[in-house]
Amino acid sequence: MDRPKKQVVLRAVNSMSSLSTSVQENGVKRIRAVNSLSSIAELDDKDLLALLADQPRLNLERKNSYDEKSFSELSLYDSLDGRFGWETPTFSINDSFNPHPMVTQAWEALFRSQVFFRGQPVGTIAAYDHASEEVLNYDQVFVRDFVPSALAFLMNGEPEIVKNFLLKTLQIQGHEKKIDRFKLGDGAMPASFKVLHNPIKKTDSIIADFGESAIGRVAPVDSGFWWIILLRAYTKSTGDHSLAERPECQKGMRLILSLCLSEGFDTFPTLLCADGCSMIDRRMGVYGYPIEIQALFFMALRSAHSMLKQDTEGKEFMDKIVKRLNAMSFHMRSYFWLDFQQLNDIYRYKTEEYSHTAVNKFNVIPDSIPDWLFDFMPLQGGYFVGNVSPARMDFRWFALGNCIAILSSLATPEQSMAIMDLIEARWDELVGEMPLKICYPALESHAWRIVTGCDPKNTRWSYHNGGSWPVLLWLLTAASIKTGRPQIARRAIDLAEARLLKDGWPEYYDGKSGRFIGKQARKFQTWSIAGYLVAKMMMEDPTHVGMISMEEEKHMKPVLNRSFSWSI
Ligand code: GLC
Repeated sequence: MDRPKKQVVLRAVNSMSSLSTSVQENGVKRIRAVNSLSSIAELDDKDLLALLADQPRLNLERKNSYDEKSFSELSLYDSLDGRFGWETPTFSINDSFNPHPMVTQAWEALFRSQVFFRGQPVGTIAAYDHASEEVLNYDQVFVRDFVPSALAFLMNGEPEIVKNFLLKTLQIQGHEKKIDRFKLGDGAMPASFKVLHNPIKKTDSIIADFGESAIGRVAPVDSGFWWIILLRAYTKSTGDHSLAERPECQKGMRLILSLCLSEGFDTFPTLLCADGCSMIDRRMGVYGYPIEIQALFFMALRSAHSMLKQDTEGKEFMDKIVKRLNAMSFHMRSYFWLDFQQLNDIYRYKTEEYSHTAVNKFNVIPDSIPDWLFDFMPLQGGYFVGNVSPARMDFRWFALGNCIAILSSLATPEQSMAIMDLIEARWDELVGEMPLKICYPALESHAWRIVTGCDPKNTRWSYHNGGSWPVLLWLLTAASIKTGRPQIARRAIDLAEARLLKDGWPEYYDGKSGRFIGKQARKFQTWSIAGYLVAKMMMEDPTHVGMISMEEEKHMKPVLNRSFSWSI
């Protein structure tokens, strides 16, 4: 099917709903709200919800050109044969008609954060904080940090920087990577890179970090997954398949996949990781099978499945992907899922069960259930726990993994709803005064000493240890829209708007309710800025969520009762 050009899509949207367009002013691109359907402006949240109820979120789904492949996806642009395929905007928000002053400031800051290589924008710097004494590596382009920037640029109709970034990181992947005398796998993607300008020779060069310079020498397992996810977002947003189809992109995907699809000693389909291998890049007791990596792995597998060519090399991966997705969705939906009923079952578990008939397969000792959980777990609601491995369930809640589980449809529709129920029911704990807690609860005293190794940056309710990260706002917003509950996002955005600009776009907030600017938080942290913009643009035009969201695969096996998993 021929892909519509972005302009076609944008024009079509513009005639039906609100749209932000970018205009050039004083050399800085700004966004301007445009609207031609004024009646929507009068709608309040209740009306929006009524509209959503009338037009269930499945209306967001469109068959795409990859439909012949077995994993279909939520796609808003794919069905377009020159027309915009979404009949009516299900909701839009008033803000689009009167953009918040923060939006303009955020765009200025985002454009300022661009990094250029030989005159071409290739990414955004992690933080543009001149006041900070310690630069560390915040002057670099981080792969994970660039994702919200990339989405903001794509949503604003500026895909070039995203394409340049994807190609530049692919080149970096192609270089030999060594830590001391040890060579890393070919597929490894960098955590970050830096462009060095030589003003005398007038040359630009790049240095990359695969973990060999990072604090603690942590390997970024998430980078490769984000790269694949971003390639799909680019393809969805622009309709330009030629990038993903390039031999080097196909090879890049295969290299990333071969790192995580190789056979080994694993008894679980989840991916075994070291501590600090993702956004939480310090020791925080997330080694093993952290939810963040599992959810990103799942989403990357589905994304790759939709983009890999069915040639000899690609086909081999496709088969492996389908098998792994099936095994993973079963494993995660059954063993990582926790709700009131499940908690009650674990509370009553017998231990030391041998054989296939075991109910308590991982030999979780009920005494290891932490006290806080009994009060925290609402009657309605649930979430994917942080980690599951032998005799170890990390019951902590992690925001990124749960939002990605919703967006990738790793969570069933019921589980997705339950996660949103939990966020609403435990708003004070998980959102408080600044969206969103990276994890809950914080590790304190003895646990903090043992688990973090007495990390002074990760003291209780700070940074990765229960700190609140504005960047997570875009993920919460996307999940809220996908589940048809935009009022949750609206509430969170209101909180962010009360503080973020005034506080200088901090990297994170501290405290039980996220009230204080983080102890060592950078200011003008790019992903805090971009995360806000992405959240705003998705609320203005919910079709944007299609870039980063996937509907449930129809052929995916339903959740089975854990005690029956061996008997089928
Ligand atoms: C910190 C964060 C990490 C982020 C980096 C750059 O190391 O833990 O997630 O990518 O800063 O912002």
